[in-house]
Amino acid sequence: MKDDLMYINGEWIGKELEKLEVVNPANGQVVGTVPIGGEDEANQAIASAHAAFQTWSQTTAYERAMYLKRLNDLILKNQEELAQVMTLEMGKPIRESRGEAASSATYIEWYAEEGKRIYGETVPSHIANKRMQVWKRPVGVVAAITPWNFPLAMLTRKMGPALAAGCTIVIKPSGESPLTAVKLVELCEEAGFPKGVINLVTGSSSKIGNAIMENEKVQKVTFTGSTEVGKLLIRQSADQVKRLSMELGGHAPIIILDDANVDAAVKGVLASKFRNAGQTCVCGNRIYVQAGIHDVFLEKFTTAVDQLKVGDGTNENVDIGPLINQSSVDKVADQVADALSKGATLVTGGRELTEEGGTFYAPTVISGVDSSMVIMQEETFGPVAPVQKFETIEEAIRLANDTKYGLAAYVFTESVAKGTLLIEQLNFGIVGWNDGMPSAAQVPFGGMKESGLGREGGHEGLEAFLESQYVSIGMD
Ligand code: SIN
Repeated sequence: MKDDLMYINGEWIGKELEKLEVVNPANGQVVGTVPIGGEDEANQAIASAHAAFQTWSQTTAYERAMYLKRLNDLILKNQEELAQVMTLEMGKPIRESRGEAASSATYIEWYAEEGKRIYGETVPSHIANKRMQVWKRPVGVVAAITPWNFPLAMLTRKMGPALAAGCTIVIKPSGESPLTAVKLVELCEEAGFPKGVINLVTGSSSKIGNAIMENEKVQKVTFTGSTEVGKLLIRQSADQVKRLSMELGGHAPIIILDDANVDAAVKGVLASKFRNAGQTCVCGNRIYVQAGIHDVFLEKFTTAVDQLKVGDGTNENVDIGPLINQSSVDKVADQVADALSKGATLVTGGRELTEEGGTFYAPTVISGVDSSMVIMQEETFGPVAPVQKFETIEEAIRLANDTKYGLAAYVFTESVAKGTLLIEQLNFGIVGWNDGMPSAAQVPFGGMKESGLGREGGHEGLEAFLESQYVSIGMD
C-alpha cells in the first residue's frame, strides 16, 4: 500500500516530506504513516484537478459511469482489505468496517447511474418567439474534507456524485484515519480515472484547509465534521462565495412512546447509540421514554447493553471498539461525571476501561437525566446512553427540539397517526421511525439548523455538484 505517499496528477508523491504517524486507538501502535503536506501540495493538487476538469467535464455521463462502476467493483473486491485498514486505523469493529465498505460502494454505484439522469429543463415561455431552457453544468473543482469516523463512506458519498456530475476532486482525509483514503485512491488509480481527476493531499489540516479556501480554482467545498470547523469554513468561503455542502454535528433525540414495540425499540436504540462506539453524527444522544414504558424499556435496554463486547475491533466478536483518542475518553468521562453530580443515576458502565490497553470506555446507561446536564446539551461521541422520562408527546417535542442541532431524530411508536404528527413537529433533517439506521445512498442525508447546509445522498446529493444555467433563446 502507498501509505507514505499522496496522490497528485496521477503520481504518488511526497517521499521527501516529514511523516504523520497513524495510531491504532485499540493499542497505541503505529499502523502507518502519511506525508505531512501543506499549502504547496494542496495548490498542486488543485491545479491538477483544475487542468483535468477541462476534459473530464466534457466526457459523457455514460463514460463517467463506466469509471465509477469499475471503482464500485474494485471496492467490493477489496472489501476485506479496506475493512482491515479502517479497523486498524480508527478502531471500529471489523463487522462494521465490512458493512461500511459495502455501503461505501453503493454511493459509487448509485451515482454512476444517477449521473445519467442530469436532465435540465425546458420551461414554457411567456413570449412566443423565445425558448427557455435550464442547462446543468458541473460546478468545477471540488475539495472534499472528510472525517475520521467513517473514513470510507464519507468519502464515497462525496466522490460518487461529484465525479458523476463531471467535477474533479481534491480529497483531504482526516489525520486520524487517512490510510483508508490512500487505499481507496489506489483503487481509483486501478479503475483508470484520467490523471488529475482524483487527487489526495494528506497532512496539516489548517494549512491545507487555508490553501483550499484561498484558491480561486476551488469552486465547491464539501465537508463532514464538527459544527465549529464548519462555521470557520463558512466564514472563509465568503470572500470567493464558494459553494458549500456541510454535514456538521448532531445531538439526536430518540423518542419512545408508550405504544412502542419495546424489543424493536431496544434493538433500534442499540444500533443508533452504540454503532461505531457512539462516534457517529447521527447517533442517538438523548433518549426520551414515555412514563408508561420507561421502566420496562430501561430494564431490557440495560440487559442488552451489558451484553455488548468491548475490545480490539479486529476480533470478530467485538461490538464496541476504542474511542478515537484519549481526549474523547476524557470528554465522555466528564459528561458522565457532570450528569451524576447533578442527580442522574448510573445504571451500568460509567468508567474508562484502562485494562484494555487502548482508549476504551464502557458501554454506559444513565437514567434520571435532565436538560441541565451537559450530556443533554452537547454531542457525546461515545458509548453513553442517557435516558429521561417524559409524560406527554408535547413535552417530548419541546425537549427534542431544544437544541441548536437538527441532524437526526428517532421515533419509536406503533401508531401511524402519532408517529406522523410527532415527526411533523421535529426539526431534524433525518428521522428514523422504528429504525435506528436510516442512511442510504438513494436518500438525502443532512441537517437543519447548525447541523449543516445542503444534503448528500439521493438526487439532492448530485444537485450539490451542479450549477443551473438558464438559457433564453430569442427566435427573431
Ligand atoms: C455520520 O455519522 O456522519 C454518518 C453516519 C451514517 O451515514 O449513518
